[in-house]
Amino acid sequence: ALKVVVIGGGSSYTPEIIEGLIKRHSSFPVTEIVLVDIEAGKEKLQIIGELSKRMIEKSGKSINLSWTLDRRKALQGADFVSTQIRVGGLEARAKDERIPLSHGFIGQETNGAGGIFKAFRTIPVLMELAADIHQICPDAWMINFTNPAGIITEALLKHSQHDKVIGVCNIPYNMRHSTAEILHVAPEEVDIQFVGMNHFVFGRRVFVSGIDRTQEVLEKLKQGLDYSPANIVNLGWSSTFIDALGLLPNPYHQYYYQTEEVLKKDIKAFEENGTRAEKVQELERSLFKLYTNPDLHDKPKELEERGGAFYSDVACSLMDSIYNNKKDIQTVNTRNNGAIPDLPNDAVIEVNSVITKNGPKPLVVGPLPSSIKGMVTHMKAFEEQVIQAGISGSYNDAYIAMLMNPLMQDEKGSKLVLDELLEAHKAFLPQF
Ligand code: G6P
Ligand code: MN
Repeated sequence: ALKVVVIGGGSSYTPEIIEGLIKRHSSFPVTEIVLVDIEAGKEKLQIIGELSKRMIEKSGKSINLSWTLDRRKALQGADFVSTQIRVGGLEARAKDERIPLSHGFIGQETNGAGGIFKAFRTIPVLMELAADIHQICPDAWMINFTNPAGIITEALLKHSQHDKVIGVCNIPYNMRHSTAEILHVAPEEVDIQFVGMNHFVFGRRVFVSGIDRTQEVLEKLKQGLDYSPANIVNLGWSSTFIDALGLLPNPYHQYYYQTEEVLKKDIKAFEENGTRAEKVQELERSLFKLYTNPDLHDKPKELEERGGAFYSDVACSLMDSIYNNKKDIQTVNTRNNGAIPDLPNDAVIEVNSVITKNGPKPLVVGPLPSSIKGMVTHMKAFEEQVIQAGISGSYNDAYIAMLMNPLMQDEKGSKLVLDELLEAHKAFLPQF
C-alpha cells in the first residue's frame, strides 16, 4: 500500500495533485489518497472529492480516494502527507494585503508584514499537524506547500519532533521551465544553480547539458524575459541591475529591489480593483462552478490562472524520487547543513538536492556572492525572528520581526501595522 494524505484537500488546487498522481502512477503507484479539510471547508471538500473521483475513474487507475474531516484517522498508515492550507482563508489573506498597503507598505501574501502574519497564523496549526504525524505515522514524509513555505519548513524542523519535513515551491520550477523555453531545450536538460531561500532565491548559473549558458539567460532577462507566476506583475529589470548582479532574480525580488515602483502600482490596483486575494476569490468562485459540473473529468485549464500552477509536478516528482530512491536532483527547501557556509546549519534554504529515500541531500552551494551576501544573511536572520515570534507569541519578538523586514523597517510604522494585524487576525493567533 502507498498512501498519500492531502491536508487542505478542499483547495481549488487539488485537481493538480490528483492529476500529478495519476500521471505518475506507473512509477509511484499510490493506492490510497485521502483528502482532509476542516469544517469551514466542508462544501469545497465535497466538490473536490467528487471531481477527484471522476478524474481517477476516467484514468482507470486503481486508486482508492476518500475525503474526511477526521485528520487523525486519515493519517493512519500514511506514507506522504502534503499540506496546502490557508489559515483564515482568503479573507485573512486580504487583510494581510490591505492593512500594510493602507499604511503605505507592501501588502503581499508571503512578503513584508502580510507574510509575517501568514507565518504567525500557520505555525501553530502545522506544529499540531506535525505532532499528529509524529505520533500516528512517524515514517511519513511531510511535503509542505503552505506559505511562507521556507519559514514554515524551518519552524517545523526546528520546533516539532517530526524530522521528515520538506518545503516546496513552484518558483524554481517556473524559472527552469521558462529558461528551457527561451533556449529551446527540454526542461530536464536545464540545470540552474540556485542560491538563497524560498521566494528569495537567485539563479547563479544556468547549465544546459553541462554547457554554461548563464549569459544568454541574463540577456533575455534584460529584454524582459518574464517567468513570474500569475500573481505577480513583472515590471522588468534594468540592464544595469542584471549586468552588475550577474544573477537571475526571482519574481518576488521586485518587492525588495523595486519597492517604490511596486508600491505605487499595487496601491493603484488596490484602490481600483482590490487586492490579489479578492481576485483569487473571484477565480475560486468560477473554478468551483466548473468543478461542480459532473461532466468535468480533468483539471481545467483555468487553474493556470493561479500563481501556484504546476506545483503538483514539483510535489509528485519529489514523492516519486523519495519512494524510488531515485537520487535525482530537485530544488527543495531543506536544512542547509553547510551548503551555504554563510548561513546557519539549521537554516532552511532553497537548494538543489539529491533526492534519496532518506530525504534531500543538499548540494554544496558555497559562499554567497558578495552582491547578495548582506541581503540574504539579513533575510535569514529576519526569518529566524519570525519563527521565534510565531512560536513564543511575544509582542516584542513580533515587533522586532516587523522592524527587521526590509519592507517595513520603520519604527512607528512597524508598530502601527503590527497592532492592526494582531487585532485583525486575533481569532487565528492563539500564541499571542
Ligand atoms: C506563486 C508562489 C506560491 C503562491 C502563489 C500565489 O506560485 O510560488 O507560493 O502561493 O504564487 O498564487 P495566487 O494565485 O494564490 O495569487
Ligand atoms: Mn511559492
